[in-house]
Amino acid sequence: MPFNLENRFDPVERVSVDELKRLQVERLRWSLTHAYNNVAFYRKAFDDIGVHPYDLKSLDDLRHFPFTTKSDLRDNYPFGMLATPMREVVRVHASSGTTGKPTVVAYTQNDINNWADVMARSIRAAGGHAGDKVHVAYGYGLFTGGLGAHYGAERLGCTVIPMSGGQTEKQVQLIRDFEPDIIMVTPSYMLNIADEMERQGMNPRESSLRLGIFGAEPWTQTMREELESRLGISALDIYGLSEVMGPGVGMECIETKDGPTIWEDHFYPEIINPETGEVVPDGEYGELVFTSLTKEALPIVRYRTRDLTRLLPGQARPMRRIDKITGRSDDMLIIRGVNVFPTQVEEQILKIEDLAPHYEIHVEKEGNLDCVTVRVERKPESGAESTDVAKALQQRVKTHIGISTKVEVADTGSLARSEGKARHVFDRRPK
Ligand code: DLL
Repeated sequence: MPFNLENRFDPVERVSVDELKRLQVERLRWSLTHAYNNVAFYRKAFDDIGVHPYDLKSLDDLRHFPFTTKSDLRDNYPFGMLATPMREVVRVHASSGTTGKPTVVAYTQNDINNWADVMARSIRAAGGHAGDKVHVAYGYGLFTGGLGAHYGAERLGCTVIPMSGGQTEKQVQLIRDFEPDIIMVTPSYMLNIADEMERQGMNPRESSLRLGIFGAEPWTQTMREELESRLGISALDIYGLSEVMGPGVGMECIETKDGPTIWEDHFYPEIINPETGEVVPDGEYGELVFTSLTKEALPIVRYRTRDLTRLLPGQARPMRRIDKITGRSDDMLIIRGVNVFPTQVEEQILKIEDLAPHYEIHVEKEGNLDCVTVRVERKPESGAESTDVAKALQQRVKTHIGISTKVEVADTGSLARSEGKARHVFDRRPK
């Protein structure tokens, strides 16, 4: 379809908030009933606390329904949470757990179609359109990133380059030769690719890329500025998780660049206080929780994502937005009583001219005390003394985050590089 203003939006991107809410109530009732009737786990969970899908009269009533957690999915490994017969399932994905069993998710043909639609909508919201060439460097396979991006880009009418993650030299060669307009990749792997461009003598600003659709891991506003200036592109934030669908649960809109708009016609968000489980009002920080509104194979009710953020009013669309994810509650370090997210350290690193955003945070116990060492690379062109740079970062971290750290400034290329989701934290304290 040729690009013009008429096909820039799905009709639902233009509805009023009241119309959206009416649609959500209708779909929520369907989804809760579907889960209750077809998944033994949900039937028991609802019955145990005495709620029934009929009890949902308004969106507000959702708070009376039980939560679902990652361990519920693990306990029902591999297919116990499915609401449709296996023969209707056309695809499974899985997210690797840190502990043994992966979390398995499944899709009917309708689910795949809806996913392709919201991904196409996401790429368009980011400023992509039919005819664009899209280089997909999210991993293909059980991870939802590669195939999710792929189907969405095809649905929008783009030309897809299904590169997947890894083979960094080749990534650069293909970007040079195929001249894609858009890259879809984790922000940490994008940095790695930009380094490789420079290593091959290419100026990252002179590539054909005009747009980066970055997600799958937390990244900061300062990182956006770094990526945009280094690559001469617009950098947009895409959010998603396997349990709820994959990438494309939310997408930042190019006209406002103010946090991912949640595609609320398919995924209903709530923010809860992670300690009490109470729903908090929009604008307050807490844990993001999702209920699927249209999913057939794996309906999900009040799934606790562990992602910490807040809901913000709709801006470019009638649907609400989320603020940039600060981190996952699982990634939060408690250092001598202070809560610290890796993104906070990243922000301070990026404020220092001489440092590159390649870093590791190591935590150990010395006696009874938590000791933190930040290893961070210097920029290749930096001529500053390592001790001065280390001191500058130490001071920033102390002032802005409130913890004392050792800082080791490492040479360019000495820290392990990400080809997908970066690992920043190495916590070796006894559990
Ligand atoms: O990471 C899906 C995805 C693929 C999203 C590609 C975006 C792009 P999972 O492997 O299940 O799925 O991991 C989901 O990743 O709960 C967040 O903690 C984190 N995450 C995903 N997107 C963002 C983002 C995919 N934009 C988990 N900002 C989520 C911060 C993100 N964290």
